[in-house]
Amino acid sequence: MLHILLITILFNFACLAQVQKKTIPIETLDNIMLLENDSAGHLSMIYLGKKLQRTEEYQQISQQYDHQADYSGVLANAYTSAGSTNLVEPAITVTHSDGNNSLNLLYVTEKRQEISDNITLTSILLRDPVYEFEVELFYKAYYSQNVIEQWSVIRHHEKSPVVLQKFASANLYLKGQGFWLKQFHGDWAKEMQTEESLLTHGNKVLDSKLGTRANLYQPPSFMVSINSPAKEDHGEVLLGTLAWTGNFRFDLEIDPLNNLRLITGINNFASAYSLPPSEDFTTPSFIYTYSSQGKGKASRNLQDWARKYRIYNGTGERQTLLNNWEATYFDFDEQRLSKLIADAKKLGVDLFLLDDGWFGNKYPRNNDHAGLGDWQENKKKLPSGIGYLVAQAKKNQVGFGIWIEPEMVNPQSELYQQHPEWIIKQPARPEYYYRNQLVLDLSNAKVQDFVYGVIDTLLSNNAGISYIKWDCNAVIYNAYSATGVNKSHLYIDYVKGFYSVLKKIRERYPAVEMMLCSGGGGRVDYGALQYFNEFWPSDNTDPLERIFMQWEYSYFFPAIATSSHVTDWGKQPLKFKTDVAMMGKLGFDIVVAKLDEKDLAFSKNAVSFYKSQNSVIWHGDQYRLMSPHENPFASMSFVSKDQKQAIMFNYLVSARYGAVTTSPIKLQGLNPSKYYAVKEENLYPGTLSSMAQGKVYSGDFLMQVGLNPILNVKRTSVIISISETDQKLKKK
Ligand code: DGJ
Repeated sequence: MLHILLITILFNFACLAQVQKKTIPIETLDNIMLLENDSAGHLSMIYLGKKLQRTEEYQQISQQYDHQADYSGVLANAYTSAGSTNLVEPAITVTHSDGNNSLNLLYVTEKRQEISDNITLTSILLRDPVYEFEVELFYKAYYSQNVIEQWSVIRHHEKSPVVLQKFASANLYLKGQGFWLKQFHGDWAKEMQTEESLLTHGNKVLDSKLGTRANLYQPPSFMVSINSPAKEDHGEVLLGTLAWTGNFRFDLEIDPLNNLRLITGINNFASAYSLPPSEDFTTPSFIYTYSSQGKGKASRNLQDWARKYRIYNGTGERQTLLNNWEATYFDFDEQRLSKLIADAKKLGVDLFLLDDGWFGNKYPRNNDHAGLGDWQENKKKLPSGIGYLVAQAKKNQVGFGIWIEPEMVNPQSELYQQHPEWIIKQPARPEYYYRNQLVLDLSNAKVQDFVYGVIDTLLSNNAGISYIKWDCNAVIYNAYSATGVNKSHLYIDYVKGFYSVLKKIRERYPAVEMMLCSGGGGRVDYGALQYFNEFWPSDNTDPLERIFMQWEYSYFFPAIATSSHVTDWGKQPLKFKTDVAMMGKLGFDIVVAKLDEKDLAFSKNAVSFYKSQNSVIWHGDQYRLMSPHENPFASMSFVSKDQKQAIMFNYLVSARYGAVTTSPIKLQGLNPSKYYAVKEENLYPGTLSSMAQGKVYSGDFLMQVGLNPILNVKRTSVIISISETDQKLKKK
């Protein structure tokens, strides 16, 4: 923190010499971001990178760049406005109360607040010299994690409302010799596919307009490499993600100076926002981390930040579970479920999770055409109610979890008949369904109360429920709120309504574990994860696909939040499936009764092995050692923070040309001067390891030379534990 003081003193001194010039540092452990205003008052971002050794040299940075092509001096603006001299993509566009569309935001003042030893909050006030309109930019720097959380607050004191046409969270300016965007796309069961490309001049937009389930096609996370595509352990890279569970928009514009203008925030699509005088409009935060040491370091920083500061109970524990979705789909009754509950105990998992199909009477939920909205136990399937199942779980000493999709309604439901005004649809157009359902209008306070009430009733009537899987299967078609005053507020107010329900639930039920699910991974973001313990990455549980998906998710989200279940998807052996599921928060969705003796014994051992390792997987540092995108193998490891324990997951992902691991895979993150005993774990009953069990190597050896997990068509998945030992190397 002494550094910050020194830098600030230096810059303040410089300000005296060069009138009005102010350089504002946003500092973290390894990096610094510099903002500076010019004589006209435009605030620009002049640097983001590794800290310089000599702080006095920060002042020399600007002079090294030729800005002649920046005719109005706003290309590098820290929050670019529209309608005056800026002619590139703006961060903010407004229509003032008098109908004028011009805005010019100039630096007024800044404040710094030490929130804790690790967190500093810098706010910078910008104001329009003509209109009574201002924006405050907030930069929350998490020092040790090298993470910055940025958002803006927009307000005005004009006579009547101002319409916000665009309202970004952050506007960054990155300088370099080329920028490579790594983006993600997908669909149901195809989440987190990745593409990397060199950004060319002009504006590239990544966005979502789907409303709920906003990430179905594209998640609100990306990375940009600077100067060359970054590798795991070298290269400059910025990882960014927007904490917003709705429509988002990222502009990536290569400007005439060949630099990257990055603008991130809520999507302004069909969302003009009418802001009354003296009210604050607070944007969601854009969370980013810069690393000059590759993608691996950046992702570990982000994961650390997420566990400590964002994910609900991110530093805590999780429950392993048995889910019945794929085991039964909608076809179950009390007896069948009671057997499955007993199976959960047999398997050794912590809880049984009852999925879709338990509700609706007039319109029973026996398939996905009916029942959503009518959250009463189906009397035919569950004559003794949820309470009976909770009691069964208790009897079997496992917890009980339940699936719910409270934001939705099927046209075949009592709710649909009772409250047509609660449903998002166009009044004069035919209804259009996604999975035979419509979305309830969470911008309406009455709907918020209804949704909260459903959860509250469920949890207060059944005190034993310790887990909720919150699903969201439909996108918003025909966006229109019957009760909303400003029709273009719907997309934004929906998400705010969603958060206010979750906030209330969390206040009342802090201990209940919650899974964020959206027909798979249609909702994975740090806006929702402040309320949820974990997320469901995809309905695609084919372990081969999951190796790729979880690889990509792991850049932004830690394993503790990444639910991963063993199911019938995929043709791989049970061991392969289980080993893959262990790289996240382990669960099962299988019919335990169908497992033969060996499979059952293997699964039970796997659960107890996972429990012995979970703290390394959940709280350790994750290293992507060998990419399945570039090799016939994938290798991933987790290392405990004290470097005493590591676990290495290895898979054969392509058997072409008789692939075998002919060379060792280098480990990372160990202590080079310590010794480690290496052991293959989670072996299928009756198989022997091809590796020397318990052999001791130095950390130096394991990281310089590496370890061969001996993958081949007969050993497609190998888990290795690496444990510090006092035992030295044996001399011959
Ligand atoms: C979609 C989820 O992703 C599945 O896991 C399951 O819960 C179904 N919905 C139930 O309808």
